[in-house]
Amino acid sequence: MTARVVPVELGERSYSIHIGSGAWRLLEEHLRGRDPAGRVMIVTDERVNSVYGRRIGELGEASKPPAVVAVVPEGEGSKSFAHLEDLCRKMAGAGLDRSSLVVALGGGVVGDLAGLASSLFVRGIRLIQAPTTLLAMVDSSTGGKTGINLPEGKNLVGTFHQPEAVFADTDVLRTLHPRDWYSGMAEVIKIALTLDPELFLYLEEVTDLGPDGDVDIARVVTSACRRKAEIIEADEWESGPRLILNFGHTLAHALEASMSYGEIRHGEAVLLGMKAALALSKRICGLPDDQFDRAVRVLGRIPVPEVKLEEDLLGYMTRDKKRSEGRVQSVLLEAIGRCRIVPLDDPGELVRSLSSFHSEG
Ligand SMILES: NC(=O)c1ccc[n+]([C@@H]2O[C@H](COP(=O)([O-])OP(=O)(O)OC[C@H]3O[C@@H](n4cnc5c(N)ncnc54)[C@H](O)[C@@H]3O)[C@@H](O)[C@H]2O)c1
Repeated sequence: MTARVVPVELGERSYSIHIGSGAWRLLEEHLRGRDPAGRVMIVTDERVNSVYGRRIGELGEASKPPAVVAVVPEGEGSKSFAHLEDLCRKMAGAGLDRSSLVVALGGGVVGDLAGLASSLFVRGIRLIQAPTTLLAMVDSSTGGKTGINLPEGKNLVGTFHQPEAVFADTDVLRTLHPRDWYSGMAEVIKIALTLDPELFLYLEEVTDLGPDGDVDIARVVTSACRRKAEIIEADEWESGPRLILNFGHTLAHALEASMSYGEIRHGEAVLLGMKAALALSKRICGLPDDQFDRAVRVLGRIPVPEVKLEEDLLGYMTRDKKRSEGRVQSVLLEAIGRCRIVPLDDPGELVRSLSSFHSEG
């Protein structure tokens, strides 16, 4: 087993991210070694359970008494009030109390839903994130953001609830659907573009960013988690630098909501949002042409389905959580690795920027 550890220093809420092949064995030890008071609940989704059900059962047996396993339907639709209620009622039915622990074992959907339920149930119980998608490993499992969607907008209901540990076992990425692999890779590129020029150089050098390519995935996940940990340490409650992680997200969330969630992967939407933000970065923030070209070239290596830009995109963007004084806050690049937050009077500029990519083909 080769696990790397990235610490997240948040005073009494500090924790470690364990990354690498076999990291679930560390999770098993963690569960075996914990104080037996309080029931453990492992929350996962149907697909992850169908692939890893036996292993999840073994993990559950490590805690005393054995953990209860709650399985939610796969997909973005689970981030809803109905599924939140259902999960909280399962927690009550299984006798969870303030000394209990929830293990969110799945992608970003499971992490966000189980994270929210664990922050609300009996006013908050402990949480471990065990991310199983690339996207969840490099982004959603760290930092404590939880949430569900409303028809009016993505992640509009949520809390901050830091996990007590994160266990990212890179072995499980082998069974991801290629679209989910690439969706996570888009978030890796986001972190490289906004915070890590060295990681960006590495991604440029890699021949094939796909699931069967030559990416050193443990290295990439570790770099991304390190950068994300630094940002969270600087701004746990997202009042300043953490907003940088929303590069590409204003348009992405609007695309996801306008497509009724689920038709487009989160990372695919973020990739389209990043393209639009890059074009604006060139015009508004002086992103040099050669850096723009390099960024677009790396993004172009990630396949994204054709999307129809719906007319109601603007409405969704103006309901974005990151609005301030009535204006949409957009993250733009001055250079690879250097960002600026720019209030946009007209968020339609983002849609037009993306359309210009489409018309250029
Ligand atoms: N909280 C945050 O800070 C944050 C950050 C970024 C994204 N998010 C949220 O994350 C969600 C997207 O996460 P996601 O892309 O992981 O989606 P997801 O959780 O829906 O997972 C994608 C698919 O992969 C399957 N899957 C998961 N692990 C697997 C494995 N190891 N092998 C085979 N199949 C597997 C799932 O069943 C699902 O069908 C969005 O809702 C987004 O809003 C949250």
